[in-house]
Amino acid sequence: MTATRVLRPYDFIQKKRDGGKMGEEEIRSFVAGYMDGTGATDYQMSAFLMAAFFRGLDREETLALTRAYVESGQVLDLGGLAHTVDKHSTGGVGDKTTLVLGPMVAAAGARLAKISGRGLGHTGGTIDKLESFPGFRSDLAPEEFLAQVQRVGLAVIGQTKDFVPADARIYALRDVTATVESIPLIAASVMSKKLASGARSIVLDVKTGGGAFMHTPEKAAELARAMVEIGELAGRHTAALVTDMDQPLGRAVGNALEVAEAIATLKGQGPLDLFELCLALGSELLTLSGLVDSRDAARSALEGAVKSGRALETFRRFVAAQGGDSSLVDHPQALPAAPLLQAVRAGRAGYVAAINAEGVGRAAMLLGAGRARKGDTIDPAVGVEILAKVGDPIGPRDDLAVVHARTPGAATDVAALVSSAFRIVSEKPSVRPLVFARIP
Ligand code: URA
Repeated sequence: MTATRVLRPYDFIQKKRDGGKMGEEEIRSFVAGYMDGTGATDYQMSAFLMAAFFRGLDREETLALTRAYVESGQVLDLGGLAHTVDKHSTGGVGDKTTLVLGPMVAAAGARLAKISGRGLGHTGGTIDKLESFPGFRSDLAPEEFLAQVQRVGLAVIGQTKDFVPADARIYALRDVTATVESIPLIAASVMSKKLASGARSIVLDVKTGGGAFMHTPEKAAELARAMVEIGELAGRHTAALVTDMDQPLGRAVGNALEVAEAIATLKGQGPLDLFELCLALGSELLTLSGLVDSRDAARSALEGAVKSGRALETFRRFVAAQGGDSSLVDHPQALPAAPLLQAVRAGRAGYVAAINAEGVGRAAMLLGAGRARKGDTIDPAVGVEILAKVGDPIGPRDDLAVVHARTPGAATDVAALVSSAFRIVSEKPSVRPLVFARIP
């Protein structure tokens, strides 16, 4: 057996700076020392992050960093529960997938145990959307969470300070040191949270396009491969889809608007792109978890769960179990609503060629649907409804979108922003696929 060699923070940084390969124990003790205050300081961790940004981390180093993150906090033990699944999206605009996918897969026999973040910047958070239901609690104790996963097949809670604290602290440093956009650092950050959540099967929705971290399908596939590799090496069944974020998903952007759209989709009346994405991600989960033996069988099971009304019933039970007013599932018109609606006119004839998802997300944030800064309060009622999607023909008097605002000033300002997010062309454009690649 070789003796464990622990490096001083200075030597650790220097080794990565010079392109060296870090050992598992070296990474573990560097992260542990940073967390308990006996080792690296914030400025030393920042220097390491920059060295890793430029030099990269290989498969073993990335796995070691992921494990060191996981070891920094509590790990959820889903114990003996069968068919536990989880899903992660790298962040989209109008991405209410969890609200639809969760009930669909739960109604088909899987158990989705999800720890979710709050929204920041131009992307919304699942917990914020769910809090559109008055009374909804995202702070279940671990035993309540587990009992609900078992009973309902679906539970979604917010992150606590004990949940992968090393990632929380290190992510905050990355955010201010221009070291977020590194594939191994993103992979370790995302996968540490998936591993700590405990589910046996994981599907990753890696977005590509203008509204995503990864602007090209190739870069998104590279990130997807890095994350799938970590999941598999850690003993979880893992798959990823690279999916489009060159326009918002579905038509609703904003918390209560997105909840209403999720409910419509669970009734079989939602936008096709959202439903199709949920079928694609859900099919991966049902096959990975061994509930069915083919993707075709998975699709039929998921479609059956929607047609029979079981998926909607599961959503009702889930909202009620977490303290939310589940009567709103049957009366979504009573969800929080904004007082002012302002149409965004096309002003010319043609076709919608692209909708800048980030622009629409920022517009919704300015209305109050999202947070510019951590801790900002959000308004569940406001948002943007997209009426014309990519490929749709439009006339000059058609409306492209409707802004749901609190004040006349916000309605006017944001309508101009939403208008500039649309690119209109004369010739019918080709429409990008919704799913670019599946990994592995
Ligand atoms: N989301 C995460 O959780 N971590 C990253 O590093 C990037 C996006």
